[in-house]
Amino acid sequence: MNFHDSERMIGILRDEGYNLTDNPDEADLIIFNTCSIREKAEQKFYSDLGRLRKLKKTNPGLKIGVGGCIAQQEGKRIFGRVPYVNLVLGPQNIESLPDLIGTEKSTSLEDRPDNSKTYIHPHRLDRIKAWVTIMYGCDNFCSYCVVPYTRGRERARPWKDIHREVKGLSEAGYKEITLLGQNVNSYGSGLEDGMDFTDLLYKIHSMDGIKRIRFITSHPKDLSKKLVRAMKELSKVCEHIHLPLQSGSDSVLYLMKRVYTYSDYKEKIELLRAEIPGIAITSDIITGFPGESEEDFEKTVKALKEINYDGIFAFKYSKRPNTSAVKLPYHMPDEVKAERLTRVLDIQDEITLRKNKELIGKEVGVLVEGKSKIGEDKMTGRTRTNKIVNFSGKTDLIGQEIKLRIIEARHHSLEGEI
Ligand code: 5AD
Ligand code: SF4
Repeated sequence: MNFHDSERMIGILRDEGYNLTDNPDEADLIIFNTCSIREKAEQKFYSDLGRLRKLKKTNPGLKIGVGGCIAQQEGKRIFGRVPYVNLVLGPQNIESLPDLIGTEKSTSLEDRPDNSKTYIHPHRLDRIKAWVTIMYGCDNFCSYCVVPYTRGRERARPWKDIHREVKGLSEAGYKEITLLGQNVNSYGSGLEDGMDFTDLLYKIHSMDGIKRIRFITSHPKDLSKKLVRAMKELSKVCEHIHLPLQSGSDSVLYLMKRVYTYSDYKEKIELLRAEIPGIAITSDIITGFPGESEEDFEKTVKALKEINYDGIFAFKYSKRPNTSAVKLPYHMPDEVKAERLTRVLDIQDEITLRKNKELIGKEVGVLVEGKSKIGEDKMTGRTRTNKIVNFSGKTDLIGQEIKLRIIEARHHSLEGEI
């Protein structure tokens, strides 16, 4: 989501005559696209911003902007904390960038419930896969989460706009699209045409060109049988779902305001696995949520062992401004959160490696994305189940779906051969 917001900001600036540079020393404008989902991301941003003080001295004409969720959350306070910042704009106000860049100090932080209809032509940073926003904001108000406060209420983009964008991508030769939203499964509320997320998948599937369709993120409460059927029927929809569990304990889930129990969640996993053989399932887990007892935590560990995810993202609970969890009793000391995080990650690492090793000797279809970051003249791509595979091959394979045999498995990637 943030990556794509950066593409939209770059797109707008390109239309204003700016070019991208990798070198801060030659930039006229530097914009930080920030994340405030956890405190750690915030601390990192302030230290990165601090490093620009010197640059501003050597290049007094340099403009510095802060975009994204920290901008939304902190607003004008950022000017007080870091005086050399020139502009502050929230994630709902990307289209105001052209008005802000000509000023010495300005902000754009209003809630924009109508911005689902404004299209910003993004500057795509990838040539094979593209991200398409289908909705903005979130109405779920999970008790730990800052997103509904920074990105505003849920708004769905109309089909005609999504259609135009996907058509353009397919004509430009893109092979894979990822539909983006905080809660894609609830797509459609507020739309006049009565479309829901499943209808959207069928419509996109019928368009030419695009070979693979992915989507993030799904909320378990909105994962319907209709959607599972669509995933099964539509050959372009990849066999992967990111379905954040957050905790395996019903009492913690209740305090998190997730509106499902572990057994509701488990039923959905069983349905997905029964209907879509080989589907990869990934998740998010929070450790040390206020009031999480050792017994609650053990339930999360048990859930990981029962579900056998293909991978997880796990985080220590972090207090976020405005969120209702801040007021809950029994906040945990950092050592407890950290120790539980390590345990969760260790358990999952073992499961991920075991699952990846099961693929050794198997043939998989891989969409080749480009040169691998590991170097050694290796190429990289992903399976439909979203696993990274590195292999020796030529650059003319980029954009093709090829068959690879898996010869080696690691925690976060596989190695294959043609
Ligand atoms: N503390 C820790 N993790 C959080 N997440 C969201 N808010 C918080 C928080 N306050 C995690 C959730 C979510 C993912 C994107 O970030 O697991 O699914
Ligand atoms: Fe945050 Fe996701 Fe919950 Fe929305 S559904 S409040 S984005 S965790």
